[in-house]
Amino acid sequence: MPDDERDGARGALSDERVSPPASFVEQANVAEPDVREAFDADWPECWARAADLLDWDSDYDRVLGGGGPPFRWFEGGSLNASANCLDRHLDERKNQVALQWEGRLGESRTYSYLDLHREVNEFAAALRDLGVEEDDVVTLYLPVVPELPIAMLACARIGAPHSVVFAGFSADALATRMDAADSEYLVTCDGYYRRGAPIHQKNKADNAAIERDGDVEATVVVDRLGGETPLGEGEHDYDDLVTEHRGADVEPVPRAASDQLFLIYTSGTTGEPTGVRHTTGGYLAHAAWTSHAVLDLRPEDTHWCSADIGWITGHTYTVYGPLALGATTMLYEGTPDHPEKDRVWDLIERNAVDVFYTAPTAVRAFMKWGEEHPEAHDLSSLRLLGTVGEPINPRAWKWYHDHIGDGECPVVDTWWQTETGGMMVSTLPGVDDMKPGSAGRRLPGVGAEVVDADGEPVEPGESGYLVLTRPWPGMPLSMAENEGWFADHGPVRPSLERFDWAYFTEDGATVDEDGYVTLLGRVDDVVNVAGHRFGTMEIESVLADVEGVAEAAVVSGPDDTKGEAVYAYVSAAGGVDEERLRAAVNDAVEDAIGGIAAPDVVVFTPDLPKTRSGKVMRRLLEAVTHDDDLGDTSALRNPEVVGELESALDGLR
Ligand code: WTA
Repeated sequence: MPDDERDGARGALSDERVSPPASFVEQANVAEPDVREAFDADWPECWARAADLLDWDSDYDRVLGGGGPPFRWFEGGSLNASANCLDRHLDERKNQVALQWEGRLGESRTYSYLDLHREVNEFAAALRDLGVEEDDVVTLYLPVVPELPIAMLACARIGAPHSVVFAGFSADALATRMDAADSEYLVTCDGYYRRGAPIHQKNKADNAAIERDGDVEATVVVDRLGGETPLGEGEHDYDDLVTEHRGADVEPVPRAASDQLFLIYTSGTTGEPTGVRHTTGGYLAHAAWTSHAVLDLRPEDTHWCSADIGWITGHTYTVYGPLALGATTMLYEGTPDHPEKDRVWDLIERNAVDVFYTAPTAVRAFMKWGEEHPEAHDLSSLRLLGTVGEPINPRAWKWYHDHIGDGECPVVDTWWQTETGGMMVSTLPGVDDMKPGSAGRRLPGVGAEVVDADGEPVEPGESGYLVLTRPWPGMPLSMAENEGWFADHGPVRPSLERFDWAYFTEDGATVDEDGYVTLLGRVDDVVNVAGHRFGTMEIESVLADVEGVAEAAVVSGPDDTKGEAVYAYVSAAGGVDEERLRAAVNDAVEDAIGGIAAPDVVVFTPDLPKTRSGKVMRRLLEAVTHDDDLGDTSALRNPEVVGELESALDGLR
């Protein structure tokens, strides 16, 4: 098989280097060749460069307070995120487009900085009237409509942390997150369109309210479908609220740098999603700095980050980063192939997008659909391309570079996590050569190393674990405070004594002689489907409760487009119809989490592979799923099951 074909969804090492074009370097925001060394020589004060991109109500006394946890980034400083994203831009660009929204049905809406400032003030006043006080958590359960960033900024204005729950999550998932955050306020909508068909979001929100133990003080409903939505007690129409508060002026509440800006739930090793709390000063500085240094954004740019705002990528690179820099941010509610497979290129052409940031899964889909779609459009406005969320294989990287960037746009492969708040490892497009398939070097000021299980650096090319060895401004509050789940977690954690402080990312990686990091995927029980994170335990605990399921195990499996897929191994109780059970399994995951986490492949097996002590041997399930060498199977109590699993899988592939 030629190398080219063997290069599946997974990243593969490639020796190729691609230099950024001189024309790009000349105009880049950050182009000092020794910027990493300069940051290291002046650490942590170097991070003032990030903080200087913001306006502070009161200056910070120290860039980093606390020699160890608790860390206090920009200690003593106060600021307001909504003022940084709106008010301070009014003098120079009140009539510039802040937010360009493209709807699912082909409609569009344009907000200038002045428009956005006005509506954020009005909605902030409305939230206050509904009883929202500083530090109350407001849950936002909305698809990609302008009201979502408006509500986020309105919350930020009054110092109320928002908790955005991805609109595709189920009622159960919403209820769990509202309970966990002790959130009494909800902003949702009547419904929205998915591939032309309406989804009734308000019904899901109602079901969540019924399930919840906590009270809902007030629910705000955005009208997206245009019909009549009967509103009950404590429920308010978004447009009515904004109209009632027309012209309102809400003074932005000064927040300490370490005050919480928002929380967002993500999946980890445990069965329950974890709330990651991000700060006002450190997070916003990190978002603005990486948008400036890596995405090379400037106020005159139109930026399109195609991630849903319900994920961290949308928070940082659709909303906070671009708006903090005064750029135009584009929001797209639809899917990339609806109504036609050239939708993305049509939008880039029509909006003259400068910077496009998407997921490798999307790039692989574009590649599959064929280059005739981008070729039918003028994409010459593009200056920089980026990816995030999963490894990008060299073939997809090159296709993106050649067919979308016309060989002229640097492609940044940015590694980061919900926990890091913003980018941590990436080539700097105005400084570094790119190596397709490798995310690149640690960003300036970031400490990142690939270590073995003893915490020692691996030799170039050997695989190990990616650890972050210095605190960074975008670190979440829970980590800065050294709370529970960050503190003593992961296989290498006990071996990291040689660092003053370190955080294990749960990612496997290699590093080459030049310090370029290539990511190999998670080493914990997290599946990364199309760049979205789910815990295998989270899905397993849903399956265990399905009637007719005797036992189930979930592992990550290969998928050429999505990178990874959810494989569920199910042993059914006697006499259960497998087809019916397959449907029940899918429905259960859809109800408990959302359709996006439903197993791609359900394999029925009479038994799961178990050790003599009765534990499910996950390693073996993973090996079978990936068609890898099975390794040592001597601990297996039921070796006959391996052949059965293999033939069941063969039948499905
Ligand atoms: C993976 C998304 C390879 C990684 C911003 C990480 C990546 C997880 C990359 C975080 C990349 C993210 N190359 N893998 N450029 N970016 N990942 O929290 O496994 O949804 O730990 O944050 O995605 O996913 P999360």
